[in-house]
Amino acid sequence: MRKLTLILVLIAVASFLTFSLVCSQTENKPGSADTTKKDTIKTETTTTETTTGVTDTTKKVTTKQETTVKDTTKAITKVVNKYIGTAKCRMCHNSELKGKIYDQWTAEGHAKAYQTLLNEQSKGIAKGMGIADASKSEKCLKCHITGYQQATGDKYSMEEGVTCEVCHGPGENYWKAQIMKDKKLAMANGLVEPTEGLCVKCHNKESPTYKPFKYADAIKLVQHKVGPVAPKTEKK
Ligand code: HEC
Ligand code: HEC
Ligand code: HEC
Ligand code: HEC
Repeated sequence: MRKLTLILVLIAVASFLTFSLVCSQTENKPGSADTTKKDTIKTETTTTETTTGVTDTTKKVTTKQETTVKDTTKAITKVVNKYIGTAKCRMCHNSELKGKIYDQWTAEGHAKAYQTLLNEQSKGIAKGMGIADASKSEKCLKCHITGYQQATGDKYSMEEGVTCEVCHGPGENYWKAQIMKDKKLAMANGLVEPTEGLCVKCHNKESPTYKPFKYADAIKLVQHKVGPVAPKTEKK
C-alpha cells in the first residue's frame, strides 16, 4: 500500500510538473507574444488619438491668438509690407503709354541719393562729424536710402537710393496688376499717397546740407505724370 501511495504521489508530482512546463511554454509561444503586441498597438493608437486631439486644440488656440495679434497690428500700423526694389515697378511703369515714370525717376536726385554718400562732399561732411564711412552710417543712410532698417525683399538694394517705394509705400503686396488696377485695394495693401509730411521726414534741418524745403516747388520736380513725357527742364 505504501509503495502504491508513493507511486501515486510521484505520478501526481510528475503530472503537475509537466503541466507547469506546458503552461510556461505556452506563455512564451509566438501567439501569446502577438497578443501582447496587439495590446501595445492598441495603447499606441490611443496615445496617438489623444495627442492629435491635443494638437488640434493647440492649433485652434494658436490660430485664434495669431489672428487677434495680426488684427491688433493692423489697427496700429495698418499693413507691414516689405520693400521690393524698383525692378517690379519698372516692368509696368516704363512704357511710353505709362509716361516712362521709371526713366523720369532715374533722372532725379533721389535715384542717386546712395551714390552721393560715396562722393568727396560726403566724405568731407562725414569727417567733420566724426563718421568713418557715410555710406555705412545710420546718420546718413536713414535719409539717403529706401526703408532703412525696415523689412526688405530679395531684389531690394539700398544702392537704388530713394526709390518709388519711399513715396508710394513698400510694394510687396500691391504690385500685382489685379491689385494695382484697383486703387482702394492697392492702398489696403500698402500703396501710399505722397504728402508733404512724408517729404519733411527727410527734408528737414537734420540734413547736414539742409536747404529750405518749399513743398509747392519741390513737388513739381518729383510728381510723376502719365502722358507725354515732359522733360524736367520744361517744368518751371
Ligand atoms: C503688374 C504691373 C504693375 C506693377 C508691377 C506695378 N504697377 Fe503700379 N499700376 C499698375 C496699374 C495697372 C495701375 C493703374 C493705373 C494705370 O493703369 O496706369 C497702377 C497704378 C499705380 C499708381 C497710381 C495709383 C493712383 O491711382 O494714384 C502708382 C503710384 C503706382 N502704380 C506705383 C507703383 C509702384 C511704386 C510699383 C512698384 C512697387 C508698381 N506700381 C508696380 C500696374 C503695375
Ligand atoms: C527718404 C528720405 C526722403 C524723402 C521721404 C523725400 N526725399 Fe527728396 N531727397 C532726399 C535726398 C537724400 C535728396 C538728395 C539726393 C542727392 O542729391 O543725393 C533729395 C532730393 C530732393 C530734390 C532735389 C531733386 C533733384 O533732382 O536734385 C527734390 C526736389 C526733392 N528731394 C523733393 C522731394 C519731395 C517733394 C518729397 C515728398 C514727396 C521728397 N523729396 C521726399 C531724400 C528724401
Ligand atoms: C519723391 C517721391 C516720389 C518718388 C521717389 C516716386 N514718385 Fe511716383 N509720384 C509721386 C507724386 C507726388 C505723384 C503725384 C501724386 C499721386 O499721384 O499720388 C506721383 C505719381 C505717380 C504715379 C501716378 C501717375 C498718374 O498720372 O496718375 C505713378 C504710376 C507713379 N508715381 C509711379 C512711380 C514709380 C514707378 C516710381 C519709381 C520708379 C515713382 N513713382 C517714384 C512721388 C514720387
Ligand atoms: C534728415 C535726413 C538726412 C540725413 C540724416 C542726411 N541727409 Fe544728406 N540730404 C538730405 C536731403 C533731403 C538732401 C537734399 C536737400 C538738401 O540738401 O537739403 C540731402 C543732400 C545731401 C547731399 C547733396 C547736397 C547738395 O548740395 O547737392 C550730400 C553730399 C549729403 N546729403 C550728404 C549727407 C551725409 C554725408 C550725411 C550723413 C552724415 C547725410 N547727408 C545725412 C537728407 C539727409
